Amino acid sequence: MAVRQLRYDGDPLLRKKSREVTIIDDRIKILIEDMKETMYKEDGIGLAAPQVGIARRVVVIDIGDGFLALINPEIITQEGEEIDSEGCLSIPGKLGKVRRPFKVKVKYLDLEGNEKIIEGTGLLARVLCHEIDHLNGVLFIDKIIDDDE
Ligand code: NI
Repeated sequence: MAVRQLRYDGDPLLRKKSREVTIIDDRIKILIEDMKETMYKEDGIGLAAPQVGIARRVVVIDIGDGFLALINPEIITQEGEEIDSEGCLSIPGKLGKVRRPFKVKVKYLDLEGNEKIIEGTGLLARVLCHEIDHLNGVLFIDKIIDDDE
């Protein structure tokens, strides 16, 4: 396992649409292990593959309830809304208020290629949306409705 170099705002790769994973091979498994190590080292609660320079649809999350790795995640339903403060490891020092759904249902593949569904509310819904945005080249600064002081 290795900590990978983060990409920062201004890097064109962060604006690319990431490609779907079709085969969960050793490269993808090593990528996920490295993303996990990088996220924990940087004290993040989520990380998307393009943030470490890989334009594939892979995200890792840990909001304090345990580690999650999601391959090809896709929001299938969303409900409600909530405005809260957000930041991003690729945009250090920047925080801002972003409107997100209060509840989302996301389908994804796990490491064994099984289709799974995760339901998240509040912070988990927010992180799921934030990380999936990364896979589409969208950053939270595109959606800030109010800067934090
Ligand atoms: Ni981010």
